[in-house]
Amino acid sequence: MRFSDSPPLQTLLERRLNRRRLLGGGAELAALGVVARRTYGQTEEPSSLSFPRVRPSKADAVIVPDGYRADVVIRWGDALFADNAAFDAAAVARGALLGAPAPAAQARQFGYNCDGIGLFALAAGRQLLCVNHEFPLPALMFPDWVEAREARSVGVFVRERPSAVAYMQACVGLSVVEIERASKWGHVSDSRYNRRITAHTPIEIAGPARGHSLLNPGGERTPLCFGTLGNCAAGTTPWRTYVTAEENVDDYFGNGAAAKLDAATELVHRRFGLRLRDSAYRWEYADPRFDVAANPAELCKFGWIVELDPFDPTSRPKKRTALGRFKHEGATTVLAADGRAVVYMGDDQQFEYFYKFVSRDRFDAARPEANRDLLDEGTLYVARLDDDGRGEWLPLVHGRHPELTRERGFGSQADVVLRCREAADRLGATPLDRPEDVAVNPRTGHVYFSCTQNLARGQGETVVAGRTLDTRTNRASPRAPNMAGHIVELIEHDADAAATAFRWEIFLLAGTPSRQELFAALPAEHAASLAANVTYFGGATDVGELSAFANPDNLGFDADGNLWIVTDGYRSDDNNDGCFACQTAGPERGRVRQFMSGPLGAEVGGCEFTADGGTLFLTLQHPGDGGSATNPQSRWPDGGDAAPRPSVIAIEPESRSRKFGT
Ligand code: FEO
Ligand code: CA
Ligand code: CA
Repeated sequence: MRFSDSPPLQTLLERRLNRRRLLGGGAELAALGVVARRTYGQTEEPSSLSFPRVRPSKADAVIVPDGYRADVVIRWGDALFADNAAFDAAAVARGALLGAPAPAAQARQFGYNCDGIGLFALAAGRQLLCVNHEFPLPALMFPDWVEAREARSVGVFVRERPSAVAYMQACVGLSVVEIERASKWGHVSDSRYNRRITAHTPIEIAGPARGHSLLNPGGERTPLCFGTLGNCAAGTTPWRTYVTAEENVDDYFGNGAAAKLDAATELVHRRFGLRLRDSAYRWEYADPRFDVAANPAELCKFGWIVELDPFDPTSRPKKRTALGRFKHEGATTVLAADGRAVVYMGDDQQFEYFYKFVSRDRFDAARPEANRDLLDEGTLYVARLDDDGRGEWLPLVHGRHPELTRERGFGSQADVVLRCREAADRLGATPLDRPEDVAVNPRTGHVYFSCTQNLARGQGETVVAGRTLDTRTNRASPRAPNMAGHIVELIEHDADAAATAFRWEIFLLAGTPSRQELFAALPAEHAASLAANVTYFGGATDVGELSAFANPDNLGFDADGNLWIVTDGYRSDDNNDGCFACQTAGPERGRVRQFMSGPLGAEVGGCEFTADGGTLFLTLQHPGDGGSATNPQSRWPDGGDAAPRPSVIAIEPESRSRKFGT
């Protein structure tokens, strides 16, 4: 992330009843021959998380508990192909990335600012790793960028050095790379799967907006766009594809104030966001595609979920427009009880919404071709979270609701997905505190999503992007301002991911737990309006056993049903961002413990386990943020006089016989 900015709690008795009902449901499904992965709830308690806690740290290092090791798997600039070289990280400060050869080399090297990970097992000790590259950080790439920024002359800098833009366009997008575990995890150069996708790679537009005039003005049979941008949390599907989420794509486009927008384009940009002057990276000074005045609709081609088949390096990625256009975070896919695919997604901006997509057709494990375009047909829903702890999934379907009709300005489902936020406004969805990544507990089917922060919560009535907002607290966003973020637990009706009703509660209110301000249970009469510093750790109350944390972002589950949380923004004078873990059930529910501390300036992303549960993969994004190419605040991971390098790391117990988390 960068720039753009309960019911009465279920009683123990209710929980037990629920569990018994789920047990029954599981047995019935098993009798019907439904595969075990679709049946939730027939579980013993997860094994305890007993690793020695990591203390908060300001070290420029990755710190893991005693008994664990963390290895760098691949770094920004590492070559994916034998005919290419890795760059010299020490030469970045001397302007090496401004030379004409650098962009072409970068297009065949691992990109910058890795975030969401997808893992696909190939064989024992071999994985196919998909990683996205969210955004460039020119201040840490090019000498004199920071000075130009301070002199308000970055536009001139870029005009005089267009290779800087070419370099940034090559460092974003996606990487597919084979990795293997020898003495430690490392990448395989020249694997037949290795692939880079940059800001120039052709990508097909699929789904209901495929033929829309803004995306396909020439009426092409196969509408294409070029590149994928701003990719944040990501996911994988049961049919072994990578799904990645375009988030702050408006940061890439500038000069909106000079644009003459027709009514349709203006409507799309109004509710999504449009930079009126300079973009964050100034590409528009060297490439008119990113100048909104020159190309008013180009931005409409970004802000989608992108699906990639990593097993076919010649396959064309697709933008799945059926899943809506917003500042996507996460694409967590599970199967419903009847085998339909369900994708959970956040929209990371203040007062935006939580969504899910349910496919029309069922996943068919025996017929891969039947799954190829499963994400093109189905129903997109947005969540309404009621103060009584119930919730409803509202269908964003053209013509089904009186607000989503031609008379009300939506001519087709293409209009609904292109103006998804506006459609969700009309249906009365619940504005949240920047909903980010989503994870589904493999043992229970319960859904968890991060609300990372919202400093505007409780700041009075506000007009943002053409809508008047009521910023008051409510049960789903109970603290004002929300400095530290929280995690919501959502339980689908009948434990079926395709259900249209659910129950929900706050699972964690992040922050620094203290005896006075740590709630054992959120009191019903106050739960919709809490002091900003109040914390709630799922009911855990032993302050000495809890780790402070804030700004939860990406989430993951291990196979035992333990929740793993990484943070973005929990960086202060006393600590760096990190990785944390807790159980979601049993007597240790909510007992958050710090597992890892990252290097200076870095947020932590990724958070995916191998299927055997033995390795945790994390990404370290923008180490050294806040410094410059000539004066970086971090030298991680290479040390010496090397530039800091965003990287993927693998964490494992030092002894393979030790269970992860113990
Ligand atoms: Fe890219 Fe919302 O973090
Ligand atoms: Ca982030
Ligand atoms: Ca994120």
